[in-house]
Amino acid sequence: MKAWISTTRGVPSASLQLKTDWPQPTAENLKQGDVLVKVTAAALNPLGYQMMKLLPNFIAKRPSVPECDFSGVIVDGNGSAFSVGEKVFGSVRPEDAIKFKQGSLAEYAFLPASTVCKQPENVTDIEAAGLFSVGLTALGLIETVNLKPGETVFINGGSSSVGAAAIQIAKAKGLRVVATASGRNEELVRSFGADEFIDYTKEPLAAYLVKNPPSVKYSAIIDAVGMNNQTLFFKSEAYLAPNGPYITTSAIPNTMAEFGTVISNMSNIFLRPGFLGGTKRKFTYFVVKPTPAHIEEFTNYVRQGTVKPFVDSVHNFEDVLKAYEVQMSGRARGKIVVKVDPTVV
Ligand SMILES: NC(=O)c1ccc[n+]([C@@H]2O[C@H](COP(=O)([O-])OP(=O)(O)OC[C@H]3O[C@@H](n4cnc5c(N)ncnc54)[C@H](OP(=O)(O)O)[C@@H]3O)[C@@H](O)[C@H]2O)c1
Repeated sequence: MKAWISTTRGVPSASLQLKTDWPQPTAENLKQGDVLVKVTAAALNPLGYQMMKLLPNFIAKRPSVPECDFSGVIVDGNGSAFSVGEKVFGSVRPEDAIKFKQGSLAEYAFLPASTVCKQPENVTDIEAAGLFSVGLTALGLIETVNLKPGETVFINGGSSSVGAAAIQIAKAKGLRVVATASGRNEELVRSFGADEFIDYTKEPLAAYLVKNPPSVKYSAIIDAVGMNNQTLFFKSEAYLAPNGPYITTSAIPNTMAEFGTVISNMSNIFLRPGFLGGTKRKFTYFVVKPTPAHIEEFTNYVRQGTVKPFVDSVHNFEDVLKAYEVQMSGRARGKIVVKVDPTVV
């Protein structure tokens, strides 16, 4: 089959090769509970290029197919609830990606039926391709902060794919939302439902919030950017309620040079108690662990139009390097989708 293959650690332009003879999974690869999917569209995640740049070959088990999110059709339901030809979207789990050297930038993938969902009829394959990781992450973040209707959640990164979905889910649950982005994205972020917008480019965000604290401190802060610089957390006593959780989606260094910053932040967060000057707020890293109930709840949000698909750009399969450039710019407004089937819409 045709597939993009990550061959070595490095940036996508150094690591990726387009193959047309990569082994195609068949029914023989399926264990009980697995399904075989023909991928029609794949979506990139920041984690894809970050792992390409950081993980050595022996851990990533290269050569292997990168990326996880996709939409497609069931080719073999293997006794599951899915039938042949059914439209689905889903995500290859990181552990399966490494073990079986597979990902979504290829024509076929096999994966547990529990990581696949039926595609709602109101979205196209292009729109569905990027929904799984982002949607279930956003839902998990909102569930983890566990606020009551009327409480305020601060979402850093309201125009990130995760942030956009989190705003929409927070509003569906009756929360008040304050969200950040650069000024060019204000209208977009408000269109997702944000009640208040802060342009983080005008002034360093934590300093701005210390100077202009909310009249009632935020009940929770979600960092939907995944920042390596944790100043927003370190200063949070000024604007986050004492029991309010601070939860982040990631803190993966972009370069080897950033490793030092991340390690020093982590030791300050986890090893320095409040009485020695540590921040007296709870810090959590979020790792998505979707259950069937989460999948059902999120798919319903999409079906009802509560969470709308958010696509930045669509790229032909041969143009994957251009797609990665958009992802690596950090300025995407929505998912970056790659057509695996050239006829997909
Ligand atoms: N834990 C998980 O399971 C999981 C799953 C999916 C994603 N993630 C992580 O979640 C994070 C977001 O991923 P994503 O795919 O949603 O990202 P994305 O869509 O690629 O994010 C791009 C957006 O981030 C905004 N942004 C960049 N820097 C910002 C800053 N300092 N403050 C506010 N906004 C900023 C940009 O808006 P402007 O141009 O206006 O700055 C841009 O619109 C990543 O770290 C990713 O690895 C985690």
